[in-house]
Amino acid sequence: MSSSVPDRVDSAGPLLFQPFKIRGLTLKNRLVVPPMVHYRAGPGSTCGMFHNVHLGRYALGGFGLVFVEATAVEEIGLINEHDLGIWNAEQARSFKPLIDFMRGENTAIGIQLAHGGRKASSQRAMDGMGPLTPEQIKAGARVWQPVGPTSEPVAAGWLTPRQLTTAECRAMAGTWANAARNAVAAGFDTIEIHTAHGYLLASFLSPVSNTRNDEYGGDRQGRMRLPLEIVEAVRREMPDTMPLFVRVSAVDGAQNGWNLDDTVAFAVELKARGVDVIDCSSGGISGSATAAQVPRGLGFQVPYAERVRKEVGIASMAVGIILEAEQAEAILQKGQADLVAVGRQSQFNPNIAQHWAHDLGINARFEDWAPEYGWWLEKRIRTMEGFATPTGVVTRRS
Ligand SMILES: Cc1cc2nc3c(=O)[nH]c(=O)nc-3n(C[C@H](O)[C@H](O)[C@H](O)COP(=O)(O)O)c2cc1C
Repeated sequence: MSSSVPDRVDSAGPLLFQPFKIRGLTLKNRLVVPPMVHYRAGPGSTCGMFHNVHLGRYALGGFGLVFVEATAVEEIGLINEHDLGIWNAEQARSFKPLIDFMRGENTAIGIQLAHGGRKASSQRAMDGMGPLTPEQIKAGARVWQPVGPTSEPVAAGWLTPRQLTTAECRAMAGTWANAARNAVAAGFDTIEIHTAHGYLLASFLSPVSNTRNDEYGGDRQGRMRLPLEIVEAVRREMPDTMPLFVRVSAVDGAQNGWNLDDTVAFAVELKARGVDVIDCSSGGISGSATAAQVPRGLGFQVPYAERVRKEVGIASMAVGIILEAEQAEAILQKGQADLVAVGRQSQFNPNIAQHWAHDLGINARFEDWAPEYGWWLEKRIRTMEGFATPTGVVTRRS
């Protein structure tokens, strides 16, 4: 199975709303909800009502692919005690109602497999996204021993990780393979491996955090060894028809850190191991999840997705401050990425994919909405003639 850049579908319509085929999976459009943790797991780190409703909204909102948030491959890999896990069968089963619902709405669903590494047992974003404070621990927050490439903490005040032994590094592929097996059994359409934002795999990649002197450290090849062994192990658990994404921090944004040349070299290795899409994020090596010195602005990470796509010949996903339909469409038109992920703008408006279709002049009669919505909205167009547009913008008040 080739993982070269898939062909574009020829049509006059916006690229955003054309299907995209990766291996045996055809997405109905190019709009993706990226993984976003929400600290609302059910008992035993399972998927429950919150995630069913929260992620189900994005299917009704028209997205082609929705990713479940960073989901731990083992218990000590939880970033926060309220995160999801997929290291056991009960957790895998808990995703079934959500997966069935998404399938019924023709929206693909993926899961991001993650390990918190030295950032495990840390705060929720809205509490500061840093290390747990003594007050939070006193109030009952769960603390455990994180692990990392070395015993160097993320920064002052963070928990001191226990350095993984060489044997434990070798065993890590099995831990991820188990989680991938569970994800396949649960019925996910795709898997994303989280190698970004300073969590376990990012901390092995970056020279800032990986100063080991065994086979899992040293030069770039050594630092890539653990993530690549994991990619191989995860790929082996997946059917040939199932695409594999990898999320990278394309740059650390730290001095002498992981840089874009490193990412290109990493992507070459990923492609050779059957990875299909590189999801290009950044930052997070030495602070909170994505905190970095990377200057932020409209589409600030798009150049990373563009370079990886063009130099490596692999599909890429752009993410980060993509706010409008025209901006998203231009990214695809210019060949900067194959997929566009919309994070906080989808939190702001879970129907944003449907709204962007209207903005780009398609779906004018709500034909792509779920019929229980679309039938009524289409009927309303006639009622509003003369005083409002089909999407409800008032044009005449008297
Ligand atoms: C609430 C929230 C939770 C997030 N959780 C994750 C996560 O679980 N895994 C991940 O790789 N990135 C995570 N991110 C980063 C997003 O996937 C995305 O890359 C980032 O928000 C930038 O895109 P945006 O500007 O469209 O929001 C999170 C972001 C937000 C806002």
